Amino acid sequence: MRQNGLMEIFDRSRRAQLELCDQLEIIADSLPERVDRQTCALTAQALDEVIRSAHAIEEAHVFPLVTREATLEVDSSALVAHLRQDHLADAFLVEELVELLASYGSGTPLHGPEASGYMLRSFFGGLRRHLALEQELLGKALGRLDSKGHGGR
Ligand SMILES: [Fe+2]
Repeated sequence: MRQNGLMEIFDRSRRAQLELCDQLEIIADSLPERVDRQTCALTAQALDEVIRSAHAIEEAHVFPLVTREATLEVDSSALVAHLRQDHLADAFLVEELVELLASYGSGTPLHGPEASGYMLRSFFGGLRRHLALEQELLGKALGRLDSKGHGGR
């Protein structure tokens, strides 16, 4: 994959994840009285798709590239290991949240509003921190590689 294309895909994927966080926050804020079943059902689908795709892109292309090119000011292997741990933890949470949102979508919530709100807020809070770290470190590294004209493979 060419460098320019990768930067664009990384940015698009990041924006999709941020929009997802905003959507999850709206749902958490709407619990329990104003929760919209259709929004929950649609968000359950989007959640799985967006996160799966983001993890696949980062792990197949972004992480190997920044590790190989070693353009970070920090130990890139340690950073990538940390980000991969986040992905593993998030993948587990996504499964739970998809079930939760689908249950709200079908009108039979698996958990009460407090527990549901806590699950949603824990996830999007953690994801926003993860995205900020990725943007700070990987976004800059990709930008530097881009300006140096390095090509991804
Ligand atoms: Fe990530």
